[in-house]
Amino acid sequence: LETDTTLDREQVVKNCQELYDSCSFEKVTLQKQFHKMYLDYSFANPLPSQLKALDASQPWLLYWIGNSLAILDKEWLKEGYQRGILAKIVSISPTGGPFSGGLGQLPHLAATYAAINALALCNNVDEGWGFIDKQEIYQWLLSLKTPNGGFRTCAETGECDTRGVYCALSIASMLDIQTPELCKGSLDFLIKCQTYEGGFGGCPQEDEAHGGYTFCAVASLAILGALDRINVGKLMEWCSARQYNEEKGLSGRSNKLVDGCYSFWVGGTAAILEAYGYGTCINKQSLCQYILQCCQSEERPGLRDKPGAPPDFYHTNYVLLGLAVTKYSFRCSHSALKI
Ligand code: FPP
Ligand code: ZN
Repeated sequence: LETDTTLDREQVVKNCQELYDSCSFEKVTLQKQFHKMYLDYSFANPLPSQLKALDASQPWLLYWIGNSLAILDKEWLKEGYQRGILAKIVSISPTGGPFSGGLGQLPHLAATYAAINALALCNNVDEGWGFIDKQEIYQWLLSLKTPNGGFRTCAETGECDTRGVYCALSIASMLDIQTPELCKGSLDFLIKCQTYEGGFGGCPQEDEAHGGYTFCAVASLAILGALDRINVGKLMEWCSARQYNEEKGLSGRSNKLVDGCYSFWVGGTAAILEAYGYGTCINKQSLCQYILQCCQSEERPGLRDKPGAPPDFYHTNYVLLGLAVTKYSFRCSHSALKI
């Protein structure tokens, strides 16, 4: 059956194949200095007006850009940048959290997750970690809980799916404010999100398995110490099926296209499973080839979704994290397993 998607895929396969044929894998390297230029420029200059759609995602921009620099070289997220990150977060949310996506906006789970991740990169510069109001954040997280064990992303109107559970549990874990009261019901919520395909949808029952929601569910289960409560075999099969032989990269769901960011959302899921002793379910060498040959170009710095797509900060961060997945083996220490 020929559909728009099968035609799009043929084009992607062709584009990737051309890149694989044009240069041997052994000769390709990560163009660190080139990508650094893109990230340094964005921290030193106002962002272009097209990015106004990200007005409610300002902590995300800080995290994506800061983390990308730190992954490329831990010395590249300089103290001046760390001070800048802290100052920006303080200016958006002067009370120390919960954090908003921009000045005057409602506190949001995803913005709070991103702000705390961004602050975690700052090596406690100017004692910025102490600025976080853990007690206030804890009470706010409790207020977002729903009766089925999920979390709304913000008061009253926020949506409720595995992203919310992951943001809430990950924030609680990073701030060391995780309690049985906060986690109540979340395990049941997550277990119900595993679909017949093996991956996880966003909501309990009747949802489509997707890489983004799957990472959120699996990372949350790891935080809860409950990976043994799901069908890990099916999950690993589903992760393996996300990798396509021709393109070598990963897709986010059945019959959809490869995209560099799933190198992390699905690759990171595989890394967690590997860390907990379940073995490896993706071909790291092939994924590395997709990232190095298809997600970077000589024309523009920064990393991208696929050949022909423009680079952006989100893909730069998650493609680099995906590359890290391909370069390491993962194993939890005994103490991590006990959490
Ligand atoms: C589909 O996009 C995307 C989704 C259904 C959600 C993706 C979720 C994440 C990336 C996780 C976010 C995590 C946090 C912590 C907030 P699409 O239809 O454009 O892409 P596709 O064709 O690849 O599915
Ligand atoms: Zn993407």
